[in-house]
Amino acid sequence: MTSQASTALNTEAVERFAGQVFGDLSSVFSGAMTLVGHRLGLYQALAEGGPQTSTELARRTGTHERYVREWLHCQRAGGYLSYEPASARFALPAEHAMVLAAEGSPAFLAPAFDVAAALWNGTERLVDSFRSGRGIGWGEHGASLFCGTEAFFRNGYRQHLTTTWIPALDGVDARLREGASVADIGCGHGASTIVMALAYPKSRFVGFDLHGESIRIARERAKAAGVEERVSFEVASATAFPGGDYDLIAFMDAFHDLGDPGRAAERSLEALVSDGTLMLVEPRAAAAVEDNVGPVARMYYAASTALCTPNALSQSGRLALGAQAGPEQLTQVLSAAGFGQARVVAETPFNLVIQARR
Ligand SMILES: C[S@@+](CC[C@H](N)C(=O)[O-])C[C@H]1O[C@@H](n2cnc3c(N)ncnc32)[C@H](O)[C@@H]1O
Repeated sequence: MTSQASTALNTEAVERFAGQVFGDLSSVFSGAMTLVGHRLGLYQALAEGGPQTSTELARRTGTHERYVREWLHCQRAGGYLSYEPASARFALPAEHAMVLAAEGSPAFLAPAFDVAAALWNGTERLVDSFRSGRGIGWGEHGASLFCGTEAFFRNGYRQHLTTTWIPALDGVDARLREGASVADIGCGHGASTIVMALAYPKSRFVGFDLHGESIRIARERAKAAGVEERVSFEVASATAFPGGDYDLIAFMDAFHDLGDPGRAAERSLEALVSDGTLMLVEPRAAAAVEDNVGPVARMYYAASTALCTPNALSQSGRLALGAQAGPEQLTQVLSAAGFGQARVVAETPFNLVIQARR
């Protein structure tokens, strides 16, 4: 008999934990429905059109009523929508619209479900990688990851990047206002690069990323935002990006993804002007594993296991930091690369901002 079997089970604890896992199961089933609603514009249509029956919502969105009716029932069961039985109308409360329908809202979470879809789509490959140790490059995933990441992170950048994060760096906001040269490494679709370019019209920006398709889309985004004269995007690695004399080099949620973050930090030191600044925006984390608990840490560890760590392992993985590396480990990498000063200058519930200088 195993020691586990010989210990009397606390059946209440079993029931409690089963309830917890069942709640998770319900969330992942209905999370797929949130993504469907986001993709089809069902939340937007509810936000704009007010209370609607399934027939009215289907007509408004060009979808089939029978599908819409079932989806509405699921949304109502989860408390996302309110329902008035007398009129058979469903409504999206204004507060819920801020989370599910309002693209510019800092609380807009719907695009994160695209990222969740990328995690689910990649599970077979991930299972193989657990066995083989093979890495999985960012570019091996589907478009839902790239677009979901862009849209999910962009609102945070719009809210914090030029209003609190850059102003928290010593002297950088003033320099960017006067006109400076900035590199954004691992820029993806360029959301952060464009937010900075719009706020600092006298500065010039270049975004680098290994993933060619992301760079192609970033160029389109710069054109659409009307900043293409001052913003360029190039395919390049964080450890060997071209150019020099940058006043600011930023890694926006990308440093921990790198296979060789130490070399990337050394390359940044070479490419900065003598009094230039390196800025890391990283997922918020505590130093100790035991302190990284709760929904945010759990979500980050899941993304880290499925996306960030496999990407680092696909690039030699000298140091696969993972998305919950925490401030001590991150600043140690910077110090070892030759940065004399590295410290956390700002924090939100989701991010921490590190400044490093020579
Ligand atoms: C989590 S995404 C963040 C994208 C973007 N910075 C943002 O905040 O939306 C990480 C990005 O780092 C890029 N990346 C990964 N390894 C890289 C490397 N060695 N050199 C340059 N970019 C890299 C990926 O292609 C991906 O676009």
